[in-house]
Amino acid sequence: MANLAQLYKTRIKGTGSYLPDKLLTNKDLEKMMDTSDEWITERTGIKARHIAADDQATSDLGVIAAQRALENANVDVSEIDMILFATVTPDYLMPNTACMLQQKLGAPNCVAMDLSAACSGLIYALSIADQFIKTGNKKNILVVGAEVLTRFIDYEDRTTCILFGDGASAVVVGPSEEGQDSDIYSHHLYAEGQLGDLLILHGGGSKHPPRQHTVDQKLHYVDMNGRDIFKNAVRTMGRCAIEAIEHNKMTPDQIDWMVPHQANIRIIEATAKQAKFPMEKVIVEIEDVGNTSAATVGIALDRAIQKGKIQRGQNVLLAAFGGGLTSGSLLMRY
Ligand code: ACO
Repeated sequence: MANLAQLYKTRIKGTGSYLPDKLLTNKDLEKMMDTSDEWITERTGIKARHIAADDQATSDLGVIAAQRALENANVDVSEIDMILFATVTPDYLMPNTACMLQQKLGAPNCVAMDLSAACSGLIYALSIADQFIKTGNKKNILVVGAEVLTRFIDYEDRTTCILFGDGASAVVVGPSEEGQDSDIYSHHLYAEGQLGDLLILHGGGSKHPPRQHTVDQKLHYVDMNGRDIFKNAVRTMGRCAIEAIEHNKMTPDQIDWMVPHQANIRIIEATAKQAKFPMEKVIVEIEDVGNTSAATVGIALDRAIQKGKIQRGQNVLLAAFGGGLTSGSLLMRY
């Protein structure tokens, strides 16, 4: 990470999350295809995932998470000066989902942009927010990670449909005030575009615009090479976690919590093992959520804060991996 002239320390002022009401359980999936609760639970740690209502788009999930985060941060919508919206399932290709959220929140004066980095999206966005806060350029940045991925899942493909769910998370970021010792210490971000084919949504963009044949060929569904994704997830998340710890001249016992991307319990366990990090200090919120891509790290962070696990003054390590392939870690004093 480049060294910036640091004027301010960055503080997570508040977090929020939202999951739609409708649940799709492993038992429901058993009735739809040749699979079993036992197989899914053993392979992924997932028992259920949430599905957005027909009239809910990604910004509709994001707005509820954002309102909760603003309330927890004690920040009024009028004070937001930037919205960063991480998603790979935007409401529209244009305008961006951040602008949709701005309109729904009624935030009068802000910059609003989307960030596409799949499951690493929230960490990418928090890293960008950190730069604007540290330099004093912005005071209240709303970072959102939200997805309605189930609209792009083929429920005849049992290797992908068991994994993904819908959800949203939000984080309000601002400068630490006098007497507060919160700060984002470091972020390490990576991309390996040469491995992009391992997890790809072929249709809907300029390469394969939506046409009858793209629908017939199922190009609008997530296409994943599960085994290779698994291996690369452990390799990259493990590397980013270790790098964050070493960069800050810390040891795992000085970190209170790790909040990893919630893709699969086996990936989380293997990452923790690689970073020599005990599972007791790893936040796992996957069983009733599934993989919500850009939303997972924020949902897990928010739930751990609301449960009183993560507390002010503790050192927290975020790590993620996603399509792209992207990956990243962020180490902070919460
Ligand atoms: N139910 C029952 N059997 C299944 C299912 C299912 N849902 N899915 C696959 N199988 C079968 C396969 O057909 C195969 O059968 P065969 O041996 O007769 O051919 C067998 O199970 C093993 O298949 P694999 O694909 O090798 O299974 P694997 O152990 O690799 O588990 C899984 C599959 C769970 C998808 C695993 O590869 C995985 O978790 N990968 C990571 C996926 C992931 O997390 N992606 C998202 C990360 S990035 C992001 O979040 C955007």
